[in-house]
Amino acid sequence: MHTPICDRLGIEVPIFAFSHCRDVVAAESRAGGFGVLGAVGFTPEQLEVECRWIDEHVGNHTYGVDIVIPGKYEGMGEVDPAKLEEHLRALVPQEHRDFAAKLLRDHGVPELPEDSKARELIGWTAATANPQIDVALAHPKVRAIANALGTPPEDVIGRVQQSGRLIGALCGSPQQARKHKEAGLDFVIAQGTEGGGHTGEIGSVVLWPQVVDAVAPIPVLAAGGIATGRQIAAALALGCAGVWAGSLWLAVEEAEAPQAQRESYFAASSKDTVRSRSFTGKPCRMLRNEWTDAWEQPDAPKPLGMPLQGMVTMDTVARTHRYADKAQPVAFNPIGQVVGMIDRTESVRDLMLRLQEQYLAAVERLDALQPADA
Ligand SMILES: Cc1cc2nc3c(=O)[nH]c(=O)nc-3n(C[C@H](O)[C@H](O)[C@H](O)COP(=O)(O)O)c2cc1C
Repeated sequence: MHTPICDRLGIEVPIFAFSHCRDVVAAESRAGGFGVLGAVGFTPEQLEVECRWIDEHVGNHTYGVDIVIPGKYEGMGEVDPAKLEEHLRALVPQEHRDFAAKLLRDHGVPELPEDSKARELIGWTAATANPQIDVALAHPKVRAIANALGTPPEDVIGRVQQSGRLIGALCGSPQQARKHKEAGLDFVIAQGTEGGGHTGEIGSVVLWPQVVDAVAPIPVLAAGGIATGRQIAAALALGCAGVWAGSLWLAVEEAEAPQAQRESYFAASSKDTVRSRSFTGKPCRMLRNEWTDAWEQPDAPKPLGMPLQGMVTMDTVARTHRYADKAQPVAFNPIGQVVGMIDRTESVRDLMLRLQEQYLAAVERLDALQPADA
């Protein structure tokens, strides 16, 4: 399973684990893959704490940091995070805040204590991502930066590459992938519609080979729908250089997930997710629930653009996480269609061993196929 990108990053197998949880990131890199920390929900100060913790727990291994600078968003061009937040807050209609507040009230989700109110704008813009990149680049074990929702700006690409690291970005179409290639990115992550989080409309098996062809010889990581070694074998057979999974790590032992949230995953089938704009303003795959249904009703306000909708829902995300036991019907649970294949809690190490065993079994099965006339 070793491919050239493994040597560039100093890893054994090209299995990338995207996670917002530092324990998962460190465990993944220690298990021979490449853990990538999602930075979007962290202030620069918090990210510094997370990276320091990973540095101490990852041994001699390397890891990555993922930021979100969308190709298009409200307030684009403003570089001062404080001014941007003030400017954006004025654009959020009270109707949206009232609608969200009523949904939580109707479901009995308590308010946050005054001292733990969430900040409204942390990620989702260049102004907020640049300080996160500064933090990441100060940590030598961070060997790659990835960007979601668009081609990173030229200055970001230059800064990361001049520091000797790799920079990549997610895409949901061959057109977007070509823009990444033109911008000079080092790798591309092709995410099919079945993936968790922000996702496009094209299915993985159709998307991956198109992106491989569109950006060759740049390595492509297959995302969207990876839950077994059989799917990894399929991705490599389609020309990908590795796989990038997100949903798979949400229920591992190391993940910081309340039990009620894990139970929601175990109970769900692959039909129970929906692409909804109701939390972030861009189509994002998550568990369908009463919150996602409510924003689809004809009398509901239309979700705002990014990052405005996220400013409306920041409080909801924090409250439904803190009070997970009562809040599942309105909680933010981004996850892909592989949720129907996630049925247990296991350690990252055991999961990584299982993926590699399944991969080998799949490859052996193919090897054993005889020509029709043999
Ligand atoms: C809970 C969750 C949060 C995510 N947040 C981000 C993010 O902040 N940045 C990003 O690049 N991708 C994010 N993604 C997408 C993942 O990086 C990955 O591409 C996706 O999960 C792959 O599909 P899969 O869910 O089928 O494994 C997220 C995915 C999940 C499940």
